Amino acid sequence: MRKTTILDMGAMKAEGRRIVMVTAYDALFARIFDEADVDVILVGDSLGMVVLGYPDTLNVTMEDMIRHTAAAARGRKRSLLVADMPFLSYQTSIPDAIRNAGLLLQAGAEAVKLEGGRSMEATIRAITACDIPVMGHIGLTPQSVHRMGGYKVQGKTDPQRERLLDDAAAVQDAGAFSVVLEGIPATLAAEITASLSIPTIGIGAGVHCDGQVLVMQDMLGMFDDFQPKFVKRFGELRKPIADAANAFAREVRDGSFPGPEHSF
Ligand code: KIV
Repeated sequence: MRKTTILDMGAMKAEGRRIVMVTAYDALFARIFDEADVDVILVGDSLGMVVLGYPDTLNVTMEDMIRHTAAAARGRKRSLLVADMPFLSYQTSIPDAIRNAGLLLQAGAEAVKLEGGRSMEATIRAITACDIPVMGHIGLTPQSVHRMGGYKVQGKTDPQRERLLDDAAAVQDAGAFSVVLEGIPATLAAEITASLSIPTIGIGAGVHCDGQVLVMQDMLGMFDDFQPKFVKRFGELRKPIADAANAFAREVRDGSFPGPEHSF
């Protein structure tokens, strides 16, 4: 299988081939998804919640993102690798944004993703002018959790719909090669997707996007206390993992592991 590039993503939209993106935060899972024919691996700042145990993405640092991007880059060969720009790594100034985007590329990413529409137009333009490909992210943007008053579906009212259509146009005009649409009504996602020449990748945005993304732990069924409407569990890994850990604990405690076949 040949390497996926940002050019392939545009071609996939033109040819009506849907784009598959999934998050990964380490070399092992990046390798598994790469070999499973996933088009794009995203080192998301969801890292903060699903790996580091924070309640939101706001505490994720550049240091975190660089370490996990480098790990994922070592695991994958073929998939396009995109890294999230964490909170405060691009909002503070355009020079900060360029420098931090460049650091993620030096860690092994081939593109960066950042949240925001019209308000981030100049930032996206400046990063792409340095030949660093940018994926936009609009709608429910987790770094804006406090402005939104929680993780709420966006774009339900007419003014919000207009604003999101404008955000999508701004991201494209600024030079982004694709855009994530998160937590918006399916009809609005369809309208945005039809209005753009760059591909849209949806999460909680219905079936009419050019591709779909899920957080790997959600997709694999690893949580027992988090199952929002937009997630489908394509596996049920939590139970077999817990069962294996219980079996290990039992055999250590009753002395049946290690047996002679595991001993030197
Ligand atoms: O951080 C992340 O994992 C994301 C995806 C949910 C799109 O931004």
